[in-house]
Amino acid sequence: MNTLPKKFHNKVEQRDVMDVLRVLPPACLDMIWGDPDYGVGINYSGRKYTSKWEEYISWYVGLAKECMRVLKPTGNLFMMNYPKQNAHLRALYLDDAAHGVYDYVWVYPTNVGHSPKRFTTAHRSILHATKGKSNNFYKEQIAQPYRNPTDKRIQGRIANGSPGRMPYSWLQYNLVKNVSLEKTFHACQIPQELSELFIKSCTKSGDSVFVLFGGSGSEVAKVKELKRTYLTCEIHPDYCEIIRTRLKNNFIKKEHRMSSIMQSRRNIGENGKKIQKQSDLIDRYFRTTTELYDDLEWDGEKLDIILDGDVIESYTHSDLSKIIDGFL
Ligand SMILES: C[S@@+](CC[C@H](N)C(=O)[O-])C[C@H]1O[C@@H](n2cnc3c(N)ncnc32)[C@H](O)[C@@H]1O
Repeated sequence: MNTLPKKFHNKVEQRDVMDVLRVLPPACLDMIWGDPDYGVGINYSGRKYTSKWEEYISWYVGLAKECMRVLKPTGNLFMMNYPKQNAHLRALYLDDAAHGVYDYVWVYPTNVGHSPKRFTTAHRSILHATKGKSNNFYKEQIAQPYRNPTDKRIQGRIANGSPGRMPYSWLQYNLVKNVSLEKTFHACQIPQELSELFIKSCTKSGDSVFVLFGGSGSEVAKVKELKRTYLTCEIHPDYCEIIRTRLKNNFIKKEHRMSSIMQSRRNIGENGKKIQKQSDLIDRYFRTTTELYDDLEWDGEKLDIILDGDVIESYTHSDLSKIIDGFL
């Protein structure tokens, strides 16, 4: 039964997600999906949500507490983040509060973020928390083909009507490419195949799904397409505009697509193009390798990394050429 109050059905709220969570009644949602700001200084179309680590973690725990309150006993909560942030959430709160906590990883090939001293970060952690022992979960909606269908035992299972195997706890999907028609100008858009798998894993048509952070609308568009009732929050007006038009038209408007924006960038002067390309590489490199900063300032010759208004590190053009693949 859908117990989410009607006024929240199929709504995109341009508000702080905590304000919406706090006014929801307890136990009213079948699924909650959170892909929050990771607290590492990502620039979201001119905005930063980074706070100090302790503040971030206390906010993250508070967010998860509200989520567990509004989740139905049969519901499922998923929180995607960097592994360290999720490890703290798990240890500080979820392991005690939830009935079960499971850690999955989304892995993706990447050609940025390489370092000579350690392996390249190319995954995110997804925590799955359940409230009760009988959480809804529908293997038949997400089953994957058996890897060894000629094995006798597997043939027996297939003959008994098994739809396939349960997906593994590691999931590989490519990052959304800038040239893809699905890619908007949002800084951290995730592939729709990933959210589709999770939505199908634990909800059926008509169930309620709260996508806590709307972003580019990638998850909430999938929720709508799969005929679940959606609710999402997105605090940034530009992103809210992408989500609302995307949901209304069932496609992404040309001016919101990264491919169109790249096309117009190609029309700027040669030097501007070069600095833009370098900025994109720098942004992607430091986003995946550096834990905490507020801002990156690149003028074509010198890069300053800024935290709390102070320059905490500087790099020259030659430093960057040594550490970032493809930096010219
Ligand atoms: C990591 S992104 C989500 C991206 C999304 N998964 C996608 O595929 O497009 C997080 C989003 O949360 C928004 N945001 C940050 N803090 C928020 C808050 N307190 N309430 C609502 N939205 C917030 C940011 O503007 C950003 O768009």
